[in-house]
Amino acid sequence: MKILSIETSCDETAIAVVECEGGLSSPHFTILGHELFSQIDIHREFGGVFPMVAKREHAKKLPFLLQKLLNSTGIIEHAHIEIDDEKWKQVKDALVREEGLFELLQETGVALRRPNIDLINVTYGPGLEPALWVGISFAKALGLLWDIPVRGVNHMEGHIVSVLASSTDTVTFPTLSVLISGGHTELVYSQKWGDYKVIGRTRDDAVGEAFDKVARMLQLPYPGGPEVSKLAQKARLEEISGKAHLPRPMLHSDNLDFSFSGLKTAVLYYLRDHADMSDLDRADLCREFEDAVTEVLLHKTKQALQEFPTNTIIVAGGVIANTYIRESFKKLEGEFPYISVHIPDKLLATDNAIMIACAGYIDHLAHPEKQTELIAKGNLTW
Ligand code: KG4
Ligand code: ZN
Repeated sequence: MKILSIETSCDETAIAVVECEGGLSSPHFTILGHELFSQIDIHREFGGVFPMVAKREHAKKLPFLLQKLLNSTGIIEHAHIEIDDEKWKQVKDALVREEGLFELLQETGVALRRPNIDLINVTYGPGLEPALWVGISFAKALGLLWDIPVRGVNHMEGHIVSVLASSTDTVTFPTLSVLISGGHTELVYSQKWGDYKVIGRTRDDAVGEAFDKVARMLQLPYPGGPEVSKLAQKARLEEISGKAHLPRPMLHSDNLDFSFSGLKTAVLYYLRDHADMSDLDRADLCREFEDAVTEVLLHKTKQALQEFPTNTIIVAGGVIANTYIRESFKKLEGEFPYISVHIPDKLLATDNAIMIACAGYIDHLAHPEKQTELIAKGNLTW
């Protein structure tokens, strides 16, 4: 089946069309087209994402991204469809909270070109509620105009399933997923597609959040993760002696939870106590921070494997765009030859709509009876 998917949970406006096949036993995906507008340059000025700014930008971009996507994929069914006044009124009502979106939809005329798709999927949580609402309202409006069903998708399931869009490798169950993003740090155990159990989570900051906060302390631009990582890489290449020492939080706790706020505070104290740091010292601190995070993530993953044995590890979420963390997880395959580690390509690691179509397909097959309410749920859990 062909799925049109929409993702607006944070600061990426993304839309995709994916051909989904194979059923739950061997799901596989062909990306027919995808468009993504990153709001990073806009948020950089403010040093972080403001939900109302994100909302405004999503509404400005969605109709144009859809237009581009439909033009590039060539999946338009009819030259034009007729829409009566009553339908336009319903569509206007669906978009009532999204300033300017209804007008843009009419002006671009994009809604009048019904694509040949079977389902629309949209992220309904977790994420920033005002931002989520734009995608949801837009999906509802398109569903009404085109008479196509709309289903809500859990963004975190999207990150897990993103590994399937990256390769043709099959995933064998059970799986242990290590989800590391800007808002989440979770260990999720799964016996089959569509069935997830959280076995460990952060008690405070998410890994990506910790990267971003450390970057802010070092006055690096938003989003901080890649910036901290660049400096850490530099320190490794230049083989700096390693003056900075930071704690490895929760390393020896007997549960599978994480905590990164102490690590972030340790960076703050280190900076306070070392006022005149050279550029290389700062790079060394980033290296030590990245080492500490990686060590904790790997240790907890191995601890989880003892309690929840599996041959398949999935590592996903924006932070897995980090080269050092990717390579460190890949090395687990050398240490445990029976384990295969699945990691999405970098394009699919950070937020995108392709993963939302893939997760939507899985969810639609695993839970056909489920009626997802099309309501934004900022704190959506599993
Ligand atoms: O999954 P994602 O795109 O959005 C959320 O759902 O949160 O993840 C974004 C997070 C941000 O905190 C960002 O700084 C972090 O992923 N990130 C990185 C890297 N690239 C993105 N963190 C460390 N190293 C990177 N290279
Ligand atoms: Zn994400």
